[in-house]
Amino acid sequence: MIRAITLKSGKSFLKKPAAPNVILECRTIVKNFDHIQALKGVSIELRKGEILGIIGDNGAGKSTLIKIIRGAYKPTSGEIYIEGEKKEFNSPRDAIREGIQCVYQESALVEQLSVAENFFIGQEPVKKYANGLVNFVDYKKMRSETKKYLARMGFHLNVREEIRNFSGGERQAVSVMRALYFKPKILLLDEPSTALSEKAKRKLFTLFQKAKKICPMIFVTHALEDAIQICDRLIILKLGEITFESKTRKGLREEELLHYM
Ligand SMILES: Nc1ncnc2c1ncn2[C@@H]1O[C@H](COP(=O)(O)OP(=O)(O)OP(=O)(O)O)[C@@H](O)[C@H]1O
Ligand SMILES: [Mg+2]
Repeated sequence: MIRAITLKSGKSFLKKPAAPNVILECRTIVKNFDHIQALKGVSIELRKGEILGIIGDNGAGKSTLIKIIRGAYKPTSGEIYIEGEKKEFNSPRDAIREGIQCVYQESALVEQLSVAENFFIGQEPVKKYANGLVNFVDYKKMRSETKKYLARMGFHLNVREEIRNFSGGERQAVSVMRALYFKPKILLLDEPSTALSEKAKRKLFTLFQKAKKICPMIFVTHALEDAIQICDRLIILKLGEITFESKTRKGLREEELLHYM
């Protein structure tokens, strides 16, 4: 972990470089909304190849932390480091540029567009003609790439079909795979499985296990049993503070962890 030494002048310098496997570090993040202190100095590290679970009851500050990491909110104080480099995000666009992708409970998919069109929305491959003077969206490539990628991740869907005709679980899986396709550095998952059936959840969790080989993930949930099942490490947030942090998921028992929530 990087340790900053603060000088009397208020400037700080790094005592030692970041551990190479730390992809994201949030350091003493505070977020105030008027008189509400949603985060009271939260520090977390996300390491290569892992799913880090952030668990907490309603109002614990989970989504606020995710919104800060993805550039939707600015922290009142505290710092964010990506691969050891300090970052300041003024918008989600800044965070996306740094390779941070996010999937929520209700992911942003366009109902009337096909799976393939949703997959490439805003980043459509183009076919160039007349030395690049005329460009067309390459629908054929979009469909074949989407089909190939989904199949690789274990999903065999008709990519020409409008996304509104798919189940909640399939839609969430498409959102996750879309984020993964563009090779993010970090994938944030804010309650992605909350509205899903048990069966759909299992399928999504299998996808997460494959996904963590592509990029590390933060999985936010209030369902302890889900977190224990799929996360490599857990952090419990309560009223803006970390009350519990585990090094592994081994030996974690739901009834014991409940005391920290
Ligand atoms: N934009 C905002 N303006 C004012 N207060 C906010 C805002 N966003 C969050 N809060 C407050 O900050 C606290 C933490 O909220 P947050 O949404 O981060 O919790 P959460 O852990 O994600 O809860 P949930 O499980 O319900 O999603 C709450 O007290 C909430 O009311
Ligand atoms: Mg939330």
